[in-house]
Amino acid sequence: MERQKIKDILTTDKTGEKSVVKGWVKTKRGSKNVNFIALNDGSTIHNLQVVADTAKFDEELLNQITTGAAISAEGLLEESQGSGQKVEMLAEKIELLGVADPEKFPIQPKKHSLEFLRENAHLRFRTNTFGAVFRIRHAMAFAIHKFFNEKGFYYLHTPIVTASDAEGAGQMFRVTTLDAINPPLTENGQLDLSKDFFGKATNLTVSGQLEGELGALALGEIYTFGPTFRAENSNTTRHLAEFWMIEPEMAFYNLKDNMDLAEEFTKYLIKYALENCKDDLEFLANRLKQEEKNKPQDQRSMELIDKLEFVLNNDFIRITYTEAIDILKRSKPYKKKKFQYPVDWGVDLQSEHERYLVEKHFKCPVILTDYPKEIKAFYMKQNDDNKTVGAMDVLFPQIGEIIGGSQREESLEKLEARMKEMDVPAEELWWYLDTRRFGTVVHSGFGLGFERFVLFVTGMGNIRDVIAFPRTPKNAEF
Ligand code: 4AD
Ligand code: MG
Repeated sequence: MERQKIKDILTTDKTGEKSVVKGWVKTKRGSKNVNFIALNDGSTIHNLQVVADTAKFDEELLNQITTGAAISAEGLLEESQGSGQKVEMLAEKIELLGVADPEKFPIQPKKHSLEFLRENAHLRFRTNTFGAVFRIRHAMAFAIHKFFNEKGFYYLHTPIVTASDAEGAGQMFRVTTLDAINPPLTENGQLDLSKDFFGKATNLTVSGQLEGELGALALGEIYTFGPTFRAENSNTTRHLAEFWMIEPEMAFYNLKDNMDLAEEFTKYLIKYALENCKDDLEFLANRLKQEEKNKPQDQRSMELIDKLEFVLNNDFIRITYTEAIDILKRSKPYKKKKFQYPVDWGVDLQSEHERYLVEKHFKCPVILTDYPKEIKAFYMKQNDDNKTVGAMDVLFPQIGEIIGGSQREESLEKLEARMKEMDVPAEELWWYLDTRRFGTVVHSGFGLGFERFVLFVTGMGNIRDVIAFPRTPKNAEF
């Protein structure tokens, strides 16, 4: 008999049918006469209850059915006698596929801390929480491709190994095959990069944007969706050294079109999650509610599903960086010196400022535009005021910056001038500048941090808990 997924059994009426299921034991309880095994196969957050009449099975076998063990069970699906589930399986055959020594298996049926589970990230998929998170992460990845495909965008694979630093922030991981202890040197004692694998200095990409622009200026609308690497030493709940980014890039889009797309895109994903990940979201919402109970009333945040619906049903506020600075300067925390970082025209906004604007002032996602050119990358569209650039950051509740993007400078002359001012090596980026030499047009794009978005949708508090194997400073286990 062919194996059935537990999700199919629980969502369609299969009572009266025989079935085979395979999965991992969540719990086993029962009496001398009957054992109830809660079985999960990862297809859904819900378990199938397998009822085993102890008289029918070898005692030794039943003893080995412990939390974490893998079994195959065959039997008749019946309407459940107990509460909590509609259908259960009356087991006729049980096969033990893999034991899990209860003395050693770390994931026991009790509440484990997220820190403990991070140390056991290889097994944390077995918990309800991480099962839900990774099913939602999958659904979001799928919905991203669906969204862009429906809009006629092409998925472009930009390189992981590159010689350029798109963001100009110098936070790159070097890629080299040179011997670290005895590297080849040039006559004047410098590292001889001509001997390296690619014959020049290369690194892991910090963004696929520059290559993405090349695609957009021919294919019209493209997006990338791949891993990105940043060697920034930020040990926060919102930074990873390896994260996934979605970067759409569109010819003929100005900043307004770019903002419209960012808003439509994030809302589409949230709607997809609400419609397709209901059970997992409800589980996570409940989990969050329990956690929030321990917080003082005024620090509790909105319930997860309410929060998602709120973002879906409200227009994002759009204001300039300059307006944001004014609001911050007039704010209570500023006047009471509660902000840790300074607020002045020209400073880069910190997460405390972004969160104030979103959570306290507007109580709504905010798109900030027209940042000072000094704090943004060389490729952004230069505004007529000579002070600001056509940048846009989308700020979300609990997260702060979730998207960074801009209209791009399409004038060769202006772009070259800015690169010179910022010491960006024009000769190495000759291929990028060629797009401005041949058929340049107005174009725009942005980058959505995938993990920050999954963090928002799942309501989890730490970015390390929404990527399977987090890479952070001093941590590359598994
Ligand atoms: O604002 P960023 O640096 O923008 C770019 O890389 C542009 N090239 C994007 C573009 O216009 N095509 O990064 C974009 C987003 C941020 O808003 C944030 O959500 C996420 O990427 N991000 C990180 N996520 C996790 N860990 C980190 N260290 C991140 N750095 C950026
Ligand atoms: Mg940014």
